[in-house]
Amino acid sequence: MMNKKTVIIQGSSRSNGNTNRMTSFLQNNFGFEVVDLNTKNIHPYHYDYKYKNDDFIPTIKEIVTKYDTMIFATPIYWYTMSGIMKNFFDRITDCLKTEKSIGKQLKGKNMAVLSCGSDAELKKGFTMPFEESAKYLGMEYLGNIHTWIADEEIPPQVKGGLEKFARELKI
Ligand SMILES: Cc1cc2nc3c(=O)[nH]c(=O)nc-3n(C[C@H](O)[C@H](O)[C@H](O)COP(=O)(O)O)c2cc1C
Repeated sequence: MMNKKTVIIQGSSRSNGNTNRMTSFLQNNFGFEVVDLNTKNIHPYHYDYKYKNDDFIPTIKEIVTKYDTMIFATPIYWYTMSGIMKNFFDRITDCLKTEKSIGKQLKGKNMAVLSCGSDAELKKGFTMPFEESAKYLGMEYLGNIHTWIADEEIPPQVKGGLEKFARELKI
């Protein structure tokens, strides 16, 4: 399937930190757009859906309307995705319960993952929740890239990896 448009959903606890260095690199070199979850008011999942007027529904609606491919960009916090990103995934449950029309629109979209840690090694199992969630939602999982910062810079190896990752998404 051709990618109409790609969005990076950034889930760092700081808008201009290391994950954003990677996000900005992709934005500047490949024109991907960015949604920064750190600037949104998105409550944790609640069984009574007591958050009718927060930013989740407008945000996910905009994403499914405008984009075909979502790159979930998260720092590694305690070996896994950030709390902000996990909250966002928990809230996708709304799209299966109270906002089913949005859930249906997620079907057939593409998902990819960008992680940013302090370590060059990505621990085994990190991508599993993304892969399984994509499968559950009827989305196509396109793969992941792990990144890190060294001496305040994006290492050349990481830049090369990001370019390859982005080019492959564009196929
Ligand atoms: C709460 C917290 C937990 C972290 N846990 C890990 C970890 O498990 N593995 C790792 O490689 N780095 C870990 N780090 C380091 C961050 O992943 C790393 O500094 C990353 O580049 C931060 O991106 P950010 O600036 O977008 O938050 C942790 C940082 C924080 C703040």
